[in-house]
Amino acid sequence: MKKEYPLKDLNTMGFDIVAKYFYEVNSLSDIDTLIEKEEFKDVRKLILGGGSNILFANEYYDGMIIHSNLKGINIIEENGDDVVVRCMSGEVWKDFVDFTVSRNLYGLENLVDIPGSVGASPVQNIGAYGCEVKDSIVYVYTIDLTNGQRRVFKNEDCHFAYRDSIFKREEFKKYFICAIDFRLKKNAALKLEYGNVKEYLERKKIESPTLSEVAQTIKEIRAEKLPEVGIVGSVGSFFQNPIVENKVFEKLKESYPEMPSYPNEKGVKIPAGWLIDKAGWKAYKENHVGVWDKQALVLVHYGGGKPQEILDLMKKIQDSVKEKFGIIIRPEVNIEF
Ligand code: EPU
Repeated sequence: MKKEYPLKDLNTMGFDIVAKYFYEVNSLSDIDTLIEKEEFKDVRKLILGGGSNILFANEYYDGMIIHSNLKGINIIEENGDDVVVRCMSGEVWKDFVDFTVSRNLYGLENLVDIPGSVGASPVQNIGAYGCEVKDSIVYVYTIDLTNGQRRVFKNEDCHFAYRDSIFKREEFKKYFICAIDFRLKKNAALKLEYGNVKEYLERKKIESPTLSEVAQTIKEIRAEKLPEVGIVGSVGSFFQNPIVENKVFEKLKESYPEMPSYPNEKGVKIPAGWLIDKAGWKAYKENHVGVWDKQALVLVHYGGGKPQEILDLMKKIQDSVKEKFGIIIRPEVNIEF
């Protein structure tokens, strides 16, 4: 257990946050030890992965950060075309995806280079380029921090939805994720339909891409659009893409015929990045923070700033998008007040 622990390297926004207590989990028995500790009782707790989807609103976290450093990637089952891989929660997500791609296992290739830990991946059901992690998850292995009991969540128990799962609900935040089983394929169709993946492949004159060519292409697209983690502070998409009712969309389309949209079962998803861009915020800069010049969905911290600057900018952008389009955009990042 460490005290007054700096979290600068554990929040990709790069703010100077300090936590009262910090506890690193290196084995499952570390959890059993932790819950017996005096400091553990009656303290506010937060399970933190790579810190790539969190915004600490205050510079002091008056509680305990619990961080998984559980390591290990193992193929545990091979059945015809199916391969089940068990990955411990403290592995780095992008390294895990690279591992699967290097072994020619299909399923996670569109999710390359997403920052964060494997343990965090089901929490917000990470997604990119037409894939979501929920499509590969079989089981999530957890420990209940209130009593040390082990609990396994099947895929359907996790209530996965767009950037959402049961683990985001207050009463499920007590589950410490230890490991995840992913079902991957030795052969499968590649998903190239989303955004400009096909266009990039064409530009590179790749006609029938391999698994690793798709992974590589998506890495390049991401590198062009998103700030580099560790260089410029960000949390990837800061806002969720709002979903509006069909009739609201039809009305908006009259004024903005060029508005991109993705119909889904609940209505029409509109890219928040487009709305923010159209509202004039792209490349906006104010003191230590701003809006990324290549992707307006990303708020950035250039260093030396305070979380409140990002919160103020968030509010200004939300108000301006609401005023221009009548749409409320909500943060995708978890804000820890
Ligand atoms: N757009 C603009 N201006 C901008 C940004 C976007 O006009 O500044 C337009 C684009 O031209 C495009 C549309 O908005 O027509 C959508 O943009 P893009 O394809 O870049 O994706 P996105 O909807 O902005 C989502 C995810 C990303 C994921 C990409 C690719 C959310 C909140 N974000 O972004 O996820 O990488 O699709 O699949 O769903 C993340 O969650 O942190 C993240 C980066």
